[in-house]
Amino acid sequence: MSIVYLNGEYLPLEEARISVLDRGFLFADGVYEVFPSYNSKPFRLNEHLSRLDNSLAGIYMSNPLSKQEWAAIFAEVIARNAGRHQSLYLQLTRGISPRDHLFSDDIKPTVFVMSKPLEAKTSNAGIAAITREDPRWKHCDLKTIALLPGVMLRHEARTQGATEAILYREGRLTEGAASNVFVISDGVVRTPPRSRAILPGVTRDLVVELLRGDKVECREEEIDIRALDSADEIWITSSTWEIVPVISLNDRVVGSGEPGPLYRQANALYQDIKENY
Ligand SMILES: Cc1ncc(COP(=O)(O)O)c(C=O)c1O
Repeated sequence: MSIVYLNGEYLPLEEARISVLDRGFLFADGVYEVFPSYNSKPFRLNEHLSRLDNSLAGIYMSNPLSKQEWAAIFAEVIARNAGRHQSLYLQLTRGISPRDHLFSDDIKPTVFVMSKPLEAKTSNAGIAAITREDPRWKHCDLKTIALLPGVMLRHEARTQGATEAILYREGRLTEGAASNVFVISDGVVRTPPRSRAILPGVTRDLVVELLRGDKVECREEEIDIRALDSADEIWITSSTWEIVPVISLNDRVVGSGEPGPLYRQANALYQDIKENY
């Protein structure tokens, strides 16, 4: 049985309860993070905690816990759950109060952490994706729990026999419904720049760093959605998916229709870091 952390207590998932007046439930008033722990050690924890601080500041909340306190909770949750590699989920909501858009500053936030075993990757062979106009709001840099657009996009992808939806705004690529996007042409790797239109992915940043360290030209720049049509390779990245090649887009084959050479290079660099972590 899975053991979770809720507001200072460790308890079985089935016994974890929150009030229906929690602002997360009523307003999606909260933020979250997801990150892997490899060999029982949280991966890129500093990066995830600093993005958490950024998301909290963006919704006018302060972090109720220090970095050391978060690290202690993660260590305990990891120890109490099965799996050498786990996927950790943390959620913070503004807390419980009578339903009113306006919040008071003295509410106690709800703090929740859970974990599940990180399953072996099945996506190395590549996935199918669709493209859609980005229907989300203008603060996509904040990792908030208001995920209905992503839920709808993933559903649409599935109805088209695909796994992910790749999004664009005003003709420019943004990101995936729950991933960042890379486009590879003529040996150059490109990904949209950091802005409010995308989540600053921790995996994205690591992939950029690893490729540059391996002398691959890697640009963070605006990308016309039409670049997808002629791309040699397309990848998506996320903390639990790692790097995934997109081999079919809107039912058309991408590049050779197989994971490309730069994917294999990037993935080897990533797996090396992970295995030696
Ligand atoms: C919208 C969105 N973009 C990008 C990412 C990838 O971020 P990270 O690599 O930090 O997991 C995610 C992860 O879930 C996401 O939901």
